[in-house]
Amino acid sequence: MASTAPHGLALLVLVAALPAAMSSCAGEDFPSGRSYVTCEDLPYLGASLHWTYDASGPSLSLAFVAAPAAPGGWVAWGINPTGSGMVGSQALVAFAGGAANSSAPAAVRTYNITGYSPLGDASTPIAFPATGLAADVGDGGKVRLYATLRLGKGLKKVVNHVWQVGSSVTRGAPDMHAMDADNLAAKGKLVLTDGAAASAPAPAGGSSSSGDGSGDGSSLRRPISPAAHTARVSVPEVVVLAVLGFLTMAWKDRWL
Ligand SMILES: *[C@@H]1O[C@H](CO)[C@@H](O)[C@H](O)[C@H]1NC(C)=O
Ligand SMILES: *[C@@H]1O[C@H](CO)[C@@H](O)[C@H](O)[C@H]1NC(C)=O
Repeated sequence: MASTAPHGLALLVLVAALPAAMSSCAGEDFPSGRSYVTCEDLPYLGASLHWTYDASGPSLSLAFVAAPAAPGGWVAWGINPTGSGMVGSQALVAFAGGAANSSAPAAVRTYNITGYSPLGDASTPIAFPATGLAADVGDGGKVRLYATLRLGKGLKKVVNHVWQVGSSVTRGAPDMHAMDADNLAAKGKLVLTDGAAASAPAPAGGSSSSGDGSGDGSSLRRPISPAAHTARVSVPEVVVLAVLGFLTMAWKDRWL
């Protein structure tokens, strides 16, 4: 039938395009040994966060992925335990080509962001002791920053986080980022427990009351996080669309 081929083609395009558009973070191909329970495409600056939350530390193992604003620039991510913006953030900054030497491997530093003054050329202590600081450069010049943070016991399960990208580094210090709308909007809430490591067997559907008995209901808060929610439902949606597409084609073939 003449009409079948265009429909089949449209369906293929649909099935191929949807997962990428809805959750590009899920396609990130990390080096072996680096894997995370969940990921979220962040709404600004083309960034994504991959993480595993271990409630027993508590600790957060993460990979932050973003392209610097220009080659040789920097990318940054942090938790702000005291506010919602940049000031107060306990930040991790990765330099695309080493901090002081553009041919050196990518480097990571920690910064306690205390104000709007320029950052220096050395790490400052942050509230969450960081281990495993590393970075590499992935597809399309994206810098992937890796770290494990030991979080305070009192830290809430939903935290304010910020992220940023900059275009240049001068004498080992990250230069100020652009002040475009997307740079200023790059902050949000992160539901740490969306990336909870499986520790105790839980009934299907993720009851919050099993395990250590803390039962804080954190898993019930998952819908707060729209991006993660989208990522989670995208595969079933695509399957439903694909099945509908096939049914439509079959129906047309048979009856038109
Ligand atoms: C820059 O880094 C490369 C690779 O690590 C090293 O071989 C080179 O000596 C460094 N140059 C300077 C000026 O430090
Ligand atoms: C970060 O800076 C603030 C403001 O100066 C200070 O109160 C806080 O103790 C610092 N945090 C760490 C971990 O040094």
